[in-house]
Amino acid sequence: MYRSHNCGELKISDVGKNVKLAGWVQKIRNKGFLIWIDLRDRYGITQLIINSEKSSKKVIESVKDIGREFVIQVEGEVIKREAINKNISTGEIEILVSEISVLNSSKLPPFTIENDTDGGEELRMKYRYLDLRRSILKDNIIFRNELTFQVRKYLKEQGFIDIETPYLIKSTPEGARDFVVPSRINPGEFYALPQSPQTFKQLLMVSGFDKYVQIVKCFRDEDLRADRQPEFTQIDCEMSFVNQEDIFQQFEGLMSRLFSRFLNQDNVKFERMTYNDAIENYGIDKPDLRYDLRIKDITNEAKGFGFQVFDNNNFSCCVKVENKSELTRKEIDNLTDWIKRPQIGATGLLWIKHNSDSTIKSSFDKFFSEKDLKAILDRASSKPGDILFIISGNKKESLMQMGSLRIELAKRFELINYEKICPIWVTDFPLFEWDEDEKRFFSMHHPFTSAKPEHLELLNSNPEKVIANAYDLVLNGNEIGGGSIRIHDFDTQMKIFELLGMSKEEYTNQFGFLIEALKYGAPPHGGIAFGLDRLAAVLKGKDVIRDFIAFPKNNSGKDLMIDAPSKLTKEQLKDLSN
Ligand code: AMO
Repeated sequence: MYRSHNCGELKISDVGKNVKLAGWVQKIRNKGFLIWIDLRDRYGITQLIINSEKSSKKVIESVKDIGREFVIQVEGEVIKREAINKNISTGEIEILVSEISVLNSSKLPPFTIENDTDGGEELRMKYRYLDLRRSILKDNIIFRNELTFQVRKYLKEQGFIDIETPYLIKSTPEGARDFVVPSRINPGEFYALPQSPQTFKQLLMVSGFDKYVQIVKCFRDEDLRADRQPEFTQIDCEMSFVNQEDIFQQFEGLMSRLFSRFLNQDNVKFERMTYNDAIENYGIDKPDLRYDLRIKDITNEAKGFGFQVFDNNNFSCCVKVENKSELTRKEIDNLTDWIKRPQIGATGLLWIKHNSDSTIKSSFDKFFSEKDLKAILDRASSKPGDILFIISGNKKESLMQMGSLRIELAKRFELINYEKICPIWVTDFPLFEWDEDEKRFFSMHHPFTSAKPEHLELLNSNPEKVIANAYDLVLNGNEIGGGSIRIHDFDTQMKIFELLGMSKEEYTNQFGFLIEALKYGAPPHGGIAFGLDRLAAVLKGKDVIRDFIAFPKNNSGKDLMIDAPSKLTKEQLKDLSN
């Protein structure tokens, strides 16, 4: 027996017991006559004590050779600690060591394996298996496991069937770029790794499975961000005989279970907001409602005073920050520089200060009297003490820039209420987006999304006005899920492919299997997929999903530990006839 207990379980009530523990040496403190070792395993840390008076010579001798991250086994008596450590579960006891043996030695680790580490990001990625020993990461991975289990449990209770779909599939140009895999036995031909099991889950509805779930890896060759990885995991679901409302109910049930279990929050309200309202009020399709900072259109109030910025642009908008009229010049300049960075791309930032003494000051005072400015303040329901930030320009861009500023202001001025949890169903997305470069429509979600029945007519006359039966679930400003009610009739599906600029030959070649299946009694169906990595991060109040994935890729899409991607040997390439 290697161990009688783990390193996280011994309590004051165990005092007097003789126990065996095994684990890694996190820290050694040697005071000569007393030596302490922090012994770590998955469950926690237990302090060991070696006492020159009470411990045997053999033990004292063996300790001399032990270093950090050695794997050791000890036997000893649980005793009460003199100095209690309230930060750890075993903080009231320690083990007076009577036997110690080294199970394996360790090279000096390249960084300290404690939450507060000295290791840089790259180094820790290279030694990810060591980084995963740090409880900060380990706890995330354990949390993810618990989350996955609860999701499976709920969906099983609800009658969903877990079905695996293939990873080696067909490449299609819609959506993000595919990762492709050459086929050795079919020279010159390639598989693609799935960006999602979308078409397969629809086919499973045609097969009659009715409620499908898969917690599944998806692969997308796109630029990385904090909330994006090239391979990530979806909780992928599909249901037959459902409308949007049924989907909302079903998955509000899932989310409510998770909020209750992991955040201790019951009866969380799910807001609903149309895509248009989200963009007009928050400048983004995934608004964070844990703070207000709603965008107001002030185009009318601002025009006609001879100030070119307002007069020459077709749109002006503002956000109000309460009780910040005393911001310094420097702070405002700093925000202006922030918003002018190429990533945001605003040409400038204007402001009006509604001072506490009710006087009004703005960055464009020359053109506006106090009364004129008051009209803008009224539009934003401003009170003395508030400041308004204003952007003017093209409507779409200004709203996007204001949307980014809104998030930055909330962060800088600590306006986010972290106690709150704000799920929103964003609905009524346009079915298509026009791409000016390619001069063609793209699906905003994917080409299998249905239009609102009342908009079917518009497909012929005015496709960009067509609203989709699509929805996203946004949680605290993060898109954690997206889905739609699908097209289940053959003619409409072909029509959509045509509107996307595909010839009959192209869509038959790419999606012939699906079109064919729609002819064999496809039921009305719809579904949703949640990003599991994102969900885990958001539930833990974080926005970097990498920390919730055991072996993620770095910002350049590389796995520094296994050194992938990498070149193939000549022989391998020859085998692939390339
Ligand atoms: P969508 O593309 O919106 O929908 O993806 C669903 C959810 O997956 C997560 N996600 C990602 N997470 C991490 N890294 C990425 N690169 C990444 N890309 C997406 C997001 C997103 O909301 N087949 C459809 C779903 C459907 O219609 O049922 C789909 O894949 O949280």
